[in-house]
Amino acid sequence: MIFRWHPDESPPQIEAHSKAKLDVLRSYLRAYLDRLNVNPHREEFKLDLVDGFAGGGTFRDGKGVVSGTPLIMLEESEEARERLNRRRTNPLRFDYKYYFVDKDSAHIDHLKKILDERGYHVDGERIVAVNKRFEEVADDIIAEIRRRQPRAGRSIFLLDQTGFAQVELELVARIFRKLPAAEVILTFAADALINFLEETPSIIKAVAPIALPQARVRELIEQRDGVGGRALAQRTLCDHIRTRTSATYDTPFFIRPRRSRRALWFLHLSRHPTARDVMIQRHWEISNTFEHYGPGDFGMLGWEGLLSKTLPLFHFTGFDAEQLRANLLNSLPEKLFCLVSEHPITVDTMRHMFANKTAARFSDLDETILQLSRERELRILDPDGKVRSHSLRRLRSSDQIALPDTLLLPGFSRRR
Ligand SMILES: C[S@@+](CC[C@H](N)C(=O)[O-])C[C@H]1O[C@@H](n2cnc3c(N)ncnc32)[C@H](O)[C@@H]1O
Repeated sequence: MIFRWHPDESPPQIEAHSKAKLDVLRSYLRAYLDRLNVNPHREEFKLDLVDGFAGGGTFRDGKGVVSGTPLIMLEESEEARERLNRRRTNPLRFDYKYYFVDKDSAHIDHLKKILDERGYHVDGERIVAVNKRFEEVADDIIAEIRRRQPRAGRSIFLLDQTGFAQVELELVARIFRKLPAAEVILTFAADALINFLEETPSIIKAVAPIALPQARVRELIEQRDGVGGRALAQRTLCDHIRTRTSATYDTPFFIRPRRSRRALWFLHLSRHPTARDVMIQRHWEISNTFEHYGPGDFGMLGWEGLLSKTLPLFHFTGFDAEQLRANLLNSLPEKLFCLVSEHPITVDTMRHMFANKTAARFSDLDETILQLSRERELRILDPDGKVRSHSLRRLRSSDQIALPDTLLLPGFSRRR
């Protein structure tokens, strides 16, 4: 969907799938700001927010007007300033900088007009609005973030491209290389790409920005047309994006426009497990808008053998949560057995190993581990190797997971 803005005209009409995207972004920013500021002793919080494909700032929605992504960034960050200081005696200082980029001058003019009407001052210092292609200014933005935050460069890049090839994956990799604490949210027209793939020179050239060599294109075509079908091709594509961008975690929201029915991804990429956990919790909160294939545990999106065109749809509802935990209870022991057979692993490592493979939140994984400990299928050790009680209620990330003294074959004591 191509949107057009002009400062003398009313904004474009929004569609349901774009609205869903805005809801996820708003919900994510709110949870991100809350989660990163739980420490009551923190004095300052710096964050750089980048909207690389910013658009004109608002949409029409029936008779009303709704905020687009640049406004959502401003509104949520300002609201967090107020919300998180409400109960504090020593105020937390928020130091934000915003970068809004769009290649279309009429779109940037519309955005500037909207910002001005709402009392935001585009001063080129705190709020920058640039009429350029994102790829032309990305390196300057990265450098400015590093200047402001030399240690980690805490930042969120929203790259709401149309299609799948406007954002080079190498550029995303550069963001992560230079700014280890960055997160990237990328719109990616996954179904359109999967449908479009053919082994012809023009298509191989068209997919060059996403670093798909001919062999990978062939693999995706075979998966798409084979028994694994779309779900398997999607999984391969998602792994490809994560690897090429050198992100550690990926969390794709599937958004299905009513008109085309072709799934778009709102893909969250990060190198930090907390960021991934905050994002997967959004899936559980905003259930039903999105469609995923698979049972939620290790069969999600066509992982491991469960490949068929009739994978069940996973909707992140209460029922799915129950099913997920029941499935985890059966599948986790076997996976864990491989991991801990040589020596114990920490809870942190366990979360890291499974994060990209299931729809589980850390709380779901932890709860499953605790249940397995209660059932004596494994032991929990503290960081010094001392056995913790089997009736333990909460895990610490530094706790270790170990095999039981008397070894039951993994999952054998469990009825399937
Ligand atoms: C889908 S719209 C953005 C909508 C906006 N994120 C929102 O939801 O409020 C995509 C925008 O990206 C802009 N655009 C397309 N290619 C671009 C590029 N290479 N660099 C920067 N902006 C670009 C278009 O002009 C358009 O305004």
